[in-house]
Amino acid sequence: MTRNTSQSLQMARDYVARPDLLKNRVVLVTGAGQGLGRMAATAFAKHGATVVLTGRSLAKLEAIYDALTSLGAPEPAMLPLDLAKADDATFHGFAQSLHATFGRLDGIFHSAAHFEPLAPLAVQTLDQWLALLRVNLAAPHALTRACLPMLKRADDASVVLVGETHGAEPKAYWGGFAVAKSGLHTLTAIWSQELAQTPVRINCLIPGPVATPQRGQSHPGESVNSLPAVESLAPACLYLMGPDSHAVRGKVLDIAAKDAS
Ligand SMILES: NC(=O)c1ccc[n+]([C@@H]2O[C@H](COP(=O)([O-])OP(=O)(O)OC[C@H]3O[C@@H](n4cnc5c(N)ncnc54)[C@H](OP(=O)(O)O)[C@@H]3O)[C@@H](O)[C@H]2O)c1
Repeated sequence: MTRNTSQSLQMARDYVARPDLLKNRVVLVTGAGQGLGRMAATAFAKHGATVVLTGRSLAKLEAIYDALTSLGAPEPAMLPLDLAKADDATFHGFAQSLHATFGRLDGIFHSAAHFEPLAPLAVQTLDQWLALLRVNLAAPHALTRACLPMLKRADDASVVLVGETHGAEPKAYWGGFAVAKSGLHTLTAIWSQELAQTPVRINCLIPGPVATPQRGQSHPGESVNSLPAVESLAPACLYLMGPDSHAVRGKVLDIAAKDAS
């Protein structure tokens, strides 16, 4: 695994996607109901993808479904799924319904995240840790695994895991959340080696701070107006999801990193 190879990081930051970048592609987005997931799903749909929207809240999925259809984007699909409760059979059934509806899958953008209030390790319980590890690390693995046969059949398939700065630079009080996010880097490296001879590439995007509901939870005193809009990440999301990043494999791209080497 390499972090921040300067060329791919610069490409991700500055990327200008052509309008039909994701035409005829089917892309699954977790956490699509709000924040980064909603923005990425919208960007993918605006660039021609048929987006499969997943999250816990059906109401939020319906809201983005309506927004995408009113834009004239390809008709999306909604498949609610609670990543904290899903087991292998659930993920397998989820992948089967996706296959039955579309017959293909060209990408997954794993944006869903479970967050617990910042606290010292000394007070973080086993149940809190298991929830953090399950949603933020084990579920992206299990969902990717369940969808792998479809991804392998694509000409060019991209899986994007969404990391977090404290997964690379651990800090006090970020506890199980940071540990789960750091595990995504290892997961990226191992999947990449194992998928080297396939059309499936997997990378990890570390977004840096942007204005979303989760940021309000982790930094309650911060003014949302002081942060970049979540839309500032659209170029990186499109670059990693589309064919122009076909040679980018096993990378951890820290978008907000000052040093791009
Ligand atoms: N915002 C930032 O500044 C920032 C910085 C660095 C990294 N990130 C990363 O970017 C990603 C997106 O963050 P965000 O700020 O957009 O978060 P967010 O606004 O809190 O959205 C999180 C999403 O995850 C979904 N989710 C949570 N628990 C779930 C579960 N058990 N099953 C299924 N879905 C679940 C939520 O769905 P429901 O609403 O339907 O429950 C929601 O759509 C995360 O991986 C986060 O760690 C964000």
